[in-house]
Order: sequence, then C-alpha cells, then structure tokens
Amino acid sequence: MTLPKILVTRRWPEPCEARLRERFDVTFNTGNHPLTLEELGTALRDYDAVLPTVSDRLPAEVFAAGPLRCRLLGNFGVGFNHIDIEAARQRGMVITNTPDVLTESTADIAMMLMLMAARRASEGERLLRAGHWTGWHPTQLLGTQVTGKTLGLIGFGRIAQAMATKAHFGFGMPIVFYTPRPVASGLLEHFQARQLDSIEAVMREADFVALHCPGSAANYHLINAGRLAQMKPSAILINTARGDVIDNPALIAALRERRIAAAGLDVYEGEPKLDPAFLELDNAVLLPHLGSATTETRVAMGMKAIDNVEAFFKGEAPPNRVI
Ligand code: DGY
Repeated sequence: MTLPKILVTRRWPEPCEARLRERFDVTFNTGNHPLTLEELGTALRDYDAVLPTVSDRLPAEVFAAGPLRCRLLGNFGVGFNHIDIEAARQRGMVITNTPDVLTESTADIAMMLMLMAARRASEGERLLRAGHWTGWHPTQLLGTQVTGKTLGLIGFGRIAQAMATKAHFGFGMPIVFYTPRPVASGLLEHFQARQLDSIEAVMREADFVALHCPGSAANYHLINAGRLAQMKPSAILINTARGDVIDNPALIAALRERRIAAAGLDVYEGEPKLDPAFLELDNAVLLPHLGSATTETRVAMGMKAIDNVEAFFKGEAPPNRVI
C-alpha cells in the first residue's frame, strides 16, 4: 500500500514526529527554517498533505500555480488566519486545526502577562540583571494590585472563559465581557460575569482588558485609538490573540503618553518583526508568542493534527475540520 506523502513545515515534538514516521511517507524540515512562499507552493504541488503551522504564511498566490497534489492542510495550531481560506477552498483542499488543547496554556500566559505588567516584573528583572538594584525601599517599582480588580474580556470563547475561571476564582476578579453572541445564563452565573453591550463599555469599565477574539478581517485593528481612549489611565491591555487585532501606532502612543498604564503582549502584527518603538517602552511586557509553548500542549497539538490527517486519509471526517 502506498502511504500518503506528507510534508511537515517545521520541527514538531519528537513523539509526534515518531507517530508520523510510523504511519506516513513523511518529510520533515530538518533545518527547521521558515519555508519561503516558493517552497510552500512547491510543497502543495508535490505532497498529498502539507502540515503547516501558524507562522507559515499561505496567501492566495501560493495556491495559484499549476496542478496541486495537496488535498489536506493539517494545521498545527488553532488559528488559521495565516491561510487564505478562500483560495484553499477553491483548490478543493480540506483544512483542519487543533482547538481545545491549547486553551489552558494560552489562558495561563494571559494571566502571566496581566501579573507581569501590573507588578512591573520585566522592569524589575531588567534592573536587577543590569546590576542597578540598590536594595528594597518603600517606593521602588510600585505596581498595581491584581486581586479584586475588574477583568474585561473582548471575546468569550474557550480561552476567555479559561482566563475568567483563573481570574475570578483565583484572584477574586469581577468579570465583564463583550461578545456579539448571546451567552447561556448558567455560564454568566458561574463567573458572576456581566455581558456588556459594546467593546467601548468593556474598555471603560475594566482595570485589565484581555483580547480573546480571533484574528480575522472583521477584527483587523479592532482596538484602535478611539477604543484605547476609553480605557482608564490606570488600565492594562493584554493581547494573546493575534497582533493585527490592535492598531500598533495607536497603542504605542497610548503607552508612551501614559494614557493607559501598561500592555502585556504575546503576539504582534507582522511577527516575528515588531515595531521597534515597543522596545523603548518600559510599560510594555513583550513575549515571543509563547501562548501554547508548553511541552504538554505542543505534544497534544501535534497529536490532534495527526488525528485529523489519519481520519482524512482513512476517508473519515476529520474531527477538527475548518473547511
Ligand atoms: C495558535 O495555535 O493559533 C496559537 O497562536 C499558537 O500558540
């Protein structure tokens, strides 16, 4: 029996690569370099399935050339805004993703950013590492208390709810949120959460605003100068969703002019490049897209991606089909 020919665009955790080796005619990107558009286009022509990840850009032009052998894009990651879905659909491809398994680790990172930004953890560590710490004193690096403050969530999907659980039950935080969809009343009671009727209302009321909406054309620069202007000067913005949900120049200006207290960011528009102005801002906590970066989560993501690939080639419905 001929095994399906599969390309994996980046290195995966070893147990996942071992499972792929057993079941498929698999090629790994042993150098682990980001593939160019040309390499990705070639992969779509040469392989039955390509397993990309969230840092592989697959715009329409990649799908344009010649007859394509690829029938499945088994994405390693829940977000799929890096793939031109319409172009893939037109070429008859199925796309799958890896939801659920990264919910807790991403919510943990959102909590970490909230605590780091509020308690000025990055500033403190920079001070210490630079050898400039002269010792404890009563007014050194005063941050803001997290416990008991109001958390505002933009979006109320799995990751937002996981963060609400940690914040409400762990830190006694009242929860307000905005999502355009109705939410079951049992869920509201569980978190004692209030669904507000606009993003602006959340921005006005919350001490911490955490973004949990998908990266999509509709959410492009959702957090703009006007919405940032609604936040309290003491408030802190957290983004573990997608970078392009925020209008960066507007955020940089708000942080520089201290119109908001701080931001904690894990994702950036155009990452891995980020606006160098962020690096100059003491009140920005910056992480390199670590949301799902635990061994447990990354293995679970790989296994979930493989479940989808196996189902597809057995002729079954992949459990996490996006299109
Ligand atoms: C995803 O899967 O979309 C995440 O951003 C990876 O951490």
